[in-house]
Amino acid sequence: MYLTKEEERILEGEMGWAYQTAMKVLVKLGELFGATRLIPVRSAHISGVSYKTIGDAPAEFLEEIVKAGGVAQVESTINPAGFDPEHVDEMPIPEEFRFKQSRIINLYKKMKIEPTLTCTPYYIRRPEAGSHLAWAESSAVVYANSVLKAWTNREGGPSALAAALIGKTPDYGMHRAENRQAEVSVKVEPELKGEMEFGALGIYAGNVLKGRVPYFTGLRSPTERDLKQLGAALASTGMNSIFQYGAEHKKELEKITVEEADLKKVVEELSTASEEPDMVFMGCPHCSLEEIKNIARLIGKRKVKEGVKLWVCTSRYVRERAKAYVRMIEAAGGHVLCDTCAVVTWLRELGVETLMTNSAKTAYYAPVLNKVGTILAPTSKCIDMACEL
Ligand code: F3S
Repeated sequence: MYLTKEEERILEGEMGWAYQTAMKVLVKLGELFGATRLIPVRSAHISGVSYKTIGDAPAEFLEEIVKAGGVAQVESTINPAGFDPEHVDEMPIPEEFRFKQSRIINLYKKMKIEPTLTCTPYYIRRPEAGSHLAWAESSAVVYANSVLKAWTNREGGPSALAAALIGKTPDYGMHRAENRQAEVSVKVEPELKGEMEFGALGIYAGNVLKGRVPYFTGLRSPTERDLKQLGAALASTGMNSIFQYGAEHKKELEKITVEEADLKKVVEELSTASEEPDMVFMGCPHCSLEEIKNIARLIGKRKVKEGVKLWVCTSRYVRERAKAYVRMIEAAGGHVLCDTCAVVTWLRELGVETLMTNSAKTAYYAPVLNKVGTILAPTSKCIDMACEL
């Protein structure tokens, strides 16, 4: 892989251990995947922030980077953490976990990485089409490549951090036009209604595509929130970083047809619980302003049932802009939480056993990561279940 004189000096350690380590990570990755050079990125988004999911070892590594003076060279943001410090009553997380989580966030801050704590950084700043990024968080990667037409590989937490410190990434994978082309035409027969069904399509397609790039036809004017659910779910069951969509694809491709029964089966399989939920969760990936507005509208004048937690997760940025709707949801007894989500927090410690959600991604991960039963349902059904009639 070709390195400039300056990159070589960083690799030799002239700028210190933190940058040398970051450069080593990028060069290793580049060599592994056949990159020819490093290219500048506009932003980095780092995953692996929740103490629940990463534990102690990565925090030690971050501490070393900070001690060695590592600072982000490009606009950099982080994924959600394990709790919302402004809702400690709703999230009575043990003191020790809270302390360790705060330490991780502070380390990122010391590296001049913005504590955005959201998996939808594109609602804060929408990347330009064609811009190169180094994003971890698979749902954001698929959204950036497919909907926003930016260019990013599906980074891991360490490689996204390395790209943040150097401001560059190796030019392989999604940074090359030839790897972004559709490989399989996926004809969607049923008319999909709402984000849950788009999520079910993503789960199904991720399983059958085995990482190949799909071109979806038959989606009939999907909204950005439908596409967000499709991408988040696709990245959960498949190693996909991008999907294409539109009318008929001109090139001759292998064809797959998705039928109503295929999606019905996905929804049934992701609904593992038979009892009523003790939590209804929306906001995976984190809600947009539009989604919060829609949830407030669906709740209307109703109240959240006794014994049911209604969680709506978003970023602080969106919450601030959705104040009027946040007040409506909270007046009904729901909670609009920031910095976290149901999957990356300690759900069982909060007494949750059965989780209802409109997110196929959450329904896919929660039984394993949170050990809860799940019910996958459309947004309106989730609200009806959470609220008194
Ligand atoms: Fe975001 Fe949590 Fe879902 S980090 S994508 S809301 S699992």
